[in-house]
Amino acid sequence: MTVPPTLVEQARAVLRQNLIVTADGHRYIRPAPMTYEQQWLWDSCFHAIVNTHFDPTLAQDEIEALLAHQLTDGPDAGMVPHMTYWDGLGMPLWGHADRSTITQPPVIAHAVERVYTATGDLAFVARVYPAVQAYHAWWQRRRDPDGDGLVSLIHPWETGWDAAPAWDGPMGLSAPSDVESRQARMALVAKLAALDYDIQAVQAAGLFNVESCDLNALYHNSLICTARLAEALGRADEAEGYRRQADVTVAAIQARCWDDAAGIYRDLAGPDETPLAKTAATTFVPLFAGIPTAAQAARLVARLTDPAQFWPAYPVPTVALSEPLFAPDRYWRGPCWMHLNWLLYHGLRRYGYHDVADHLAARSFALVEAAGFWEYYNPLTGAGLGAHPQSWATLVVDMA
Ligand code: GLC
Repeated sequence: MTVPPTLVEQARAVLRQNLIVTADGHRYIRPAPMTYEQQWLWDSCFHAIVNTHFDPTLAQDEIEALLAHQLTDGPDAGMVPHMTYWDGLGMPLWGHADRSTITQPPVIAHAVERVYTATGDLAFVARVYPAVQAYHAWWQRRRDPDGDGLVSLIHPWETGWDAAPAWDGPMGLSAPSDVESRQARMALVAKLAALDYDIQAVQAAGLFNVESCDLNALYHNSLICTARLAEALGRADEAEGYRRQADVTVAAIQARCWDDAAGIYRDLAGPDETPLAKTAATTFVPLFAGIPTAAQAARLVARLTDPAQFWPAYPVPTVALSEPLFAPDRYWRGPCWMHLNWLLYHGLRRYGYHDVADHLAARSFALVEAAGFWEYYNPLTGAGLGAHPQSWATLVVDMA
């Protein structure tokens, strides 16, 4: 599969249009004009990956800008905030002018490794490696209270899938409207701040606490990427430590998230790790991290490519078409998102499902060619939805 050249040129233009140069000279790409002017964690990692094709120096700058507001002291030292407010407008929601107080899926080490592969610039790796180390130490120290290798999330925004139906229950909501769901997320920030973002206090208070299968798969992948970065820097002992940690996480995902009767990975909620019933496309993300066995992968791919579940005209819907709560136009409750397609494309390739991956790439190209670069899309009609032009939709150029 090759990416249509017009799409490549349009993607380049979107990233150029969305580039922000801060007053002190940092460079990052906003997710979308007006709607998302700040710097977001996983968006920036995805932009950096796309920029390995266009402008690797900008990719490096964006990662370094992302790490600039990593916490350096206090109980959450090492955390990388999910939002950086270069304009200083974060105070009302977060109590900090320049950053949020929660994180997002850990794809930083993956982005660093992609940039390193593209550039061979070991000095860049050496510059960011201490921050990557501190970030993983933070996850382990603050978010794995039972030490089982699965990390916990304390806010739906940390999952990256803000309003997914799977979070209704853990948020104490039942089929909420978009407004209700958003208000509940805003209100949760103040409750977390009152508890100093302490996971044990969060669990005791019965607040949102989820070990999601996709984030933990990305966490596992992040540990492996960090191990390879450590090896590149000649730090064999540290690499070994990250691999051991990754082994614990993968074993826990297989033992606790995999539901063999259903043939899916489940998210776990609460300190007692109750598997959540709703089926979302999060279940396929472990493919990206190489976690399933070949037999598990076959079952996942059969489900993914079932036209009644996850394979409509424009795959992949975030929620199965067969779920009663599937809503093709509603934020995180059904639409197709290009960063998910990118994760699944690479997962399918990794397991040798090249035809399925090619089909997914071809449908993704057709979608973006017809509709443009949108935050998300109606998976039945291909209509663009949400913010526009959205930077991470440019991930299509990395699906070949
Ligand atoms: C929304 C998404 C989140 C993303 C952000 C910026 O909040 O839910 O995952 O990082 O927009 O694109």
